[in-house]
Amino acid sequence: MKIAPSILSADFGNLLRDVREVEKAGCEYLHIDVMDGHFVPNITIGPLVVKALKGKVDMIFDVHLMIENPEKYIDEFAKSGADIITIHQEATPHLHRGIQMIRNHGIKAGVSLNPATPVETLEYILPDVDMVLIMSVNPGFGGQKYIPEMTKKIRKMKEMILKINPEVSIQVDGGIKPENVREVVKAGGEIIVAGSAIFNKENIHQAVHDLRVAGEGGGSK
Ligand code: DX5
Ligand code: ZN
Repeated sequence: MKIAPSILSADFGNLLRDVREVEKAGCEYLHIDVMDGHFVPNITIGPLVVKALKGKVDMIFDVHLMIENPEKYIDEFAKSGADIITIHQEATPHLHRGIQMIRNHGIKAGVSLNPATPVETLEYILPDVDMVLIMSVNPGFGGQKYIPEMTKKIRKMKEMILKINPEVSIQVDGGIKPENVREVVKAGGEIIVAGSAIFNKENIHQAVHDLRVAGEGGGSK
């Protein structure tokens, strides 16, 4: 299991400090939530922030684009230092083109599904992606509750991936906490996004540790 802290819940006035904390705590990915006020009802981070953080920490820069017509901004995010760019199936009629654009930059391409979008919509794109992001809340805000039906969806996605392209990894995003992370991992979640469960805690190190121990089945690590 890999952990991808979502900086949406970090202290933006002390962003680099918080990012360095999760790096020190051993998190492998840095999840960057980009929102445009159209695809989702919130506005957040642009490529300038990605660029400002790049090189300051040694983590995989995992950029989650919750924006309409993502093709328009892929080049800019890739040049700013994204290592993975994920676009939403629902955000573009030209998903395959968007995925190709990302891969042409020599970086990894992910595709994301809102909670109500069936996994079957990805059948013909799975051979071309590196990651699938299952949203377990409606995108737009941190600190929401995990939608229980998403566990079944992760399981179904895993089955499809094993049949079509076993190289694809599953990321799960939204409402994940020590109490439910084991269920997500058991269903097939490999990269766990967590915002409020990490940054809204007094002790970031402890929060990352608690999440990892719970996700890996309560071992002694
Ligand atoms: C929601 C974002 C998530 C979110 C996760 O639109 O994509 O990454 O910030 O935050 P928590 O873990 O608090 O649900
Ligand atoms: Zn996200």
